[in-house]
Amino acid sequence: MEKQISKAVISRLPRYYRYLGELLEEGVERISSNELSQRMRVTASQIRQDLNNFGGFGQQGYGYNVKYLYTEIAKILGIDRQHNLIIIGAGNLGQAIANYANFEKRGFVIKGMFDINPRLIGLVVRGIEIRGVDDLERFIVENQISIAALTIPKTKAPEIADRVIKAGVKGIWNFAHVDLNVPDGVVVENVHLSESLMRLSYRVCSMQDKGNEEKRPS
Ligand code: NAI
Repeated sequence: MEKQISKAVISRLPRYYRYLGELLEEGVERISSNELSQRMRVTASQIRQDLNNFGGFGQQGYGYNVKYLYTEIAKILGIDRQHNLIIIGAGNLGQAIANYANFEKRGFVIKGMFDINPRLIGLVVRGIEIRGVDDLERFIVENQISIAALTIPKTKAPEIADRVIKAGVKGIWNFAHVDLNVPDGVVVENVHLSESLMRLSYRVCSMQDKGNEEKRPS
């Protein structure tokens, strides 16, 4: 049976993948954990620990084979295969996602966009037609859609999530500010820019508070 990899390690893999991709572009064939550590600004022991989870990538005195590691991480992340994706909600955010061509490089193919606004239905964004939600289920089945991005208001998200799940979607990329209840066998990845911004705000404020304390005469 395959070893269970911790969520923390999985969450770091995309970053390894990005750095290894850059190394490949630079023509680097192998790299030691120390060199990778300097580039990525994480400790070499963290890198060794993380990558040891998958076994056999590093060799004593040789380092890591960049191409091999890159390919193996892609397999682990499941980006060595194609994922068909739809976007529901073709407003500002939905269109911004559709306009970002780089997802395709990672195997995420946007097959369709959906909206309820008649003024948007029929428009084409980067070659992708915006459709009404009436034929949502049929489209999902016919196009083997595995992922749905929800860029709709939070009040609408639970109902749409139920519909896409019933039609066979396995992953919800949820941008709506609501927690979705999904059955076993379906996963949700929430992306909330405002939460990220709040974490940044916390860090900026604690830095300022610390600075003020240091300036204060004792
Ligand atoms: P928007 O108003 O430009 O687009 C929303 C679109 O959803 C509209 O075109 C609307 O017609 C459509 N829609 C509404 N109900 C629908 C349904 N039942 N089925 C299909 N389409 C439907 O809004 P925007 O700026 O694109 O934001 C979309 C959502 O994403 C909002 O809920 C917003 O709060 C959220 N958001 C989340 C962010 C994040 O970081 N997670 C960042 C920005 C926005």
